[in-house]
This record gives sequence, C-alpha cells and structure tokens, in this order.
Amino acid sequence: MRSKIVAGNWKMNKNQEETEALLAELSAKLPDTAAEVMVAPTFVNLASAVRDLESSTIQVIAQNMHFAESGAFTGEISADMLLSIGVQTVIIGHSERRAYFGETDEILAKKVKAALAKNMRVMFCFGEELEDRKSDNHFNVVAGQLKNGLFDLEAEAWKNIVLAYEPVWAIGTGETASPEQAQEMHAFIRKTITEAFDANIANTVSILYGGSVKPSNAVEIFSKPDVDGGLIGGASLVADDFMAIVKAI
Ligand code: 13P
Repeated sequence: MRSKIVAGNWKMNKNQEETEALLAELSAKLPDTAAEVMVAPTFVNLASAVRDLESSTIQVIAQNMHFAESGAFTGEISADMLLSIGVQTVIIGHSERRAYFGETDEILAKKVKAALAKNMRVMFCFGEELEDRKSDNHFNVVAGQLKNGLFDLEAEAWKNIVLAYEPVWAIGTGETASPEQAQEMHAFIRKTITEAFDANIANTVSILYGGSVKPSNAVEIFSKPDVDGGLIGGASLVADDFMAIVKAI
C-alpha cells in the first residue's frame, strides 16, 4: 500500500507569528484522514513548528539541507541539525533550488545519500520545463533527473523515498498539468523505476503531483490511479484551502 500524502511547501513565506497562527488553524481544522499531512515552514521556524504540532498528526518537514555532516558551510543546515529538532523528512531537489541556487543533479544525489544515511525520509522533486514539454522532451528530462538523483541507490533505500513530480511550468503559474498529463507522467515514472529496479519498488513508492494544486482541481488530479497526493505551494498558505486539498485526498 502506498501512503497518500499532502504536503505544504511554504517556501520563503510566513514569519514566526504568522507561522504559529497558521499552524494553530491547521491543527484545529485538520479533518479525519488516512493520509499523511505535512508542512514545510522556513528553517527559522522549524523548531517552534515541531513544538506547536506536538499533539497533532501533522508532520513538520524541511525544505532543504546540506550534504555535509558539519563544517565551514556558512548559511547551511545539516541532517543532524534537522533530526535534533525532530524533523525526519526533507524536501530535496525542488525546482527553485535547482534554478535559483545552482543545485545540480550531482549535488542533489549527494544530498539524497546524506539524508538517507541518517535514516531520514526524502521527498525528491523533479520535473520538466516548458520548453522540454513543447519539444516533446519531457519524458527524457524526467528520466534523466530520476536516474542522476536516485538510480544508484540500494533497492532498500527506496522505502525512505517519496517522489514529487512538479512540472516547472505549472509551479506558481496558476497553470496545472491536466489530470491526464499528471497520470501519464506518473505512470511513466513507475515504468522507469521498474526498469531500473523492480515493479515492487515502482508500485510502493508514493508519487505526488505539484504545480498549482488548488481546492478546485485537487479531487480530479488525486483521482488518477498513479497520483498519491500533492506537494502544494501557494494554496498551503491558506488553512481552508490546504484543508480542502487534504479532504480531496
Ligand atoms: P504552487 O502550488 O504554488 O504552484 O507550488 C508548487 C510547488 O512548488 C510546491 O513545492
């Protein structure tokens, strides 16, 4: 059985006070659900978020981490630091990290390995740009990102991996992949993993869709058989919208 997951990536939004307020609203409004619900506030508010959600089933996850154990990496955060405040899951490979902070496939592969070595759970993001889709190269791009980021892992490591397909052209643009486009890519991802590893891994890894998921389109996207949930940006900053998306799963 694959986990159903709805995760909110808050990106660089919400100060301390706003974080506290949104978390309080989310815990109060969380519906009964079998899905895992996660939020990723900014680093400075992670520790307080963990405390604020102590009695909630909502999980606090990180938006990024560095691959090194410790040392002279000004401005960076290690896996041990996250674990020490009770954060067990980290997003790696978000397209904004790739595009604005120069994170290459090689760097991301190191981050994935570093997190897994500490027994963390990794939410690995990837997805094509608009030009890739227009030139019908989107499957190649996604296969390449998966291969470079994840395909030299041991089969055993996959139990701690969650995938998030986020086509760059659908992030923050209001434009969403159609449910059919999402399903087509998610099925392709499972096929690619089956070829590289085996069908058991491919069929047990959760694959989330991300890119302008909203209360109005979530039901249709989540109804697709290979879509196991969503990684939500903008709509996760509004408690009622995020909880409507949680209800949709
Ligand atoms: P939006 O939902 O704002 O398009 O963002 C998606 C995303 O990047 C989540 O990581």
